[in-house]
Amino acid sequence: MLVLEVELKVDLYLFQRGLFGVSLPRVLAISGKELEELLKPEILVSEIEKAFVLYSSGSTVTPPRTVMWVEGNWWGIMQSYVPNYGVGVKVVNVIPSNVERGLPTIQAIVTLFDPLTGTPLAVIEGGVLTALRTAAASAVSAKYMAPETRGPIAIIGTGYQARYQLVFVSHFYKAEEIKIYDIREEAAESYRKYAENLGFKVTVCRSAREAIEGAGVVIEASTTRTPVIEGKHLRSPAHVISIGAHVRDARALDDEVIKRAEVVVVDSREAVMLETGDIRIPIEIGILSKERVSELGEVASGKKPGRITREGITVFKSVGLAIQDAAAAAVAYRLALEKGFGRFIEL
Ligand SMILES: NC(=O)c1ccc[n+]([C@@H]2O[C@H](COP(=O)([O-])OP(=O)(O)OC[C@H]3O[C@@H](n4cnc5c(N)ncnc54)[C@H](O)[C@@H]3O)[C@@H](O)[C@H]2O)c1
Repeated sequence: MLVLEVELKVDLYLFQRGLFGVSLPRVLAISGKELEELLKPEILVSEIEKAFVLYSSGSTVTPPRTVMWVEGNWWGIMQSYVPNYGVGVKVVNVIPSNVERGLPTIQAIVTLFDPLTGTPLAVIEGGVLTALRTAAASAVSAKYMAPETRGPIAIIGTGYQARYQLVFVSHFYKAEEIKIYDIREEAAESYRKYAENLGFKVTVCRSAREAIEGAGVVIEASTTRTPVIEGKHLRSPAHVISIGAHVRDARALDDEVIKRAEVVVVDSREAVMLETGDIRIPIEIGILSKERVSELGEVASGKKPGRITREGITVFKSVGLAIQDAAAAAVAYRLALEKGFGRFIEL
């Protein structure tokens, strides 16, 4: 259902009159907890898949995000129009030192607008929305690229994102066992409890190598700037999902991962060239040709293969796109109205 169709039913509530007689907006505020209840994998993954297909067919309006550095930390402003969903704008930051403050590394707010009238519709907690839509993209990659042969899921970097990644990816790649590694023992320990509560058998590993060996799917969700996944330790077949290393010179995957991969898929060819060393550097040093790099939307629409052989190693690299935020925000808004979630606030 279109955002607009819902909006027509509720437009009476969208405005109030100010003291000066002008119309002032009322927007729906949706919390992170509500997002977790609304955007389950069985709902969100197919919507994110559709948004990627629209993106790769050139149907969305998605300028590269604006990046600024504040006190040594990365801030992004991400905007997009996704037809049938809406216009979304996210302000997001990545503050790695927040780990020591007990605060999330990534914090964000997303605003959703009606594309025709420009009316602001919703203000949405963006940390959870980011984690959910990032996990949904990884799940789309697992749907098309994960091997048939089962094995444990390895998780390198067991912070905030990794919690959502596991739930969404394991929706498509069923695994009883997970092997985890984090440079911070307390992060691995807290994740162990989390994953055991979800019913997984968990092995806490002493190195990335130990975690990766024998895994059918490897998820890298760390804040590393240098490679943590070494291709020589990957089993064949395997699917590698890497969501970290989101700055131009940072890499989470070594050369060998790229050399061994039969398929390399990214969220956006344009964005990965600007925003991660994981694809840009292998292209520049000549171990990866641009022609070998496909987009998730091309794989989902059947234009490019997700996997060529049963034994192959496949790679999905994401840096995160504004289309994911806009689509996820619109779906959350529609579901919140249907189910009576959220609170209208007057602006
Ligand atoms: N691709 C996307 O769309 C997208 C979206 C959101 C976040 N991210 C990225 O995901 C990554 C994780 O974000 P988060 O919010 O979970 O951060 P977080 O700080 O909560 O977790 C990161 C974890 O990685 C661990 N780590 C750092 N270096 C490591 C190493 N060399 N080996 C093993 N573990 C290591 C840290 O100890 C920490 O526990 C960040 O790089 C972030 O930018 C990507």
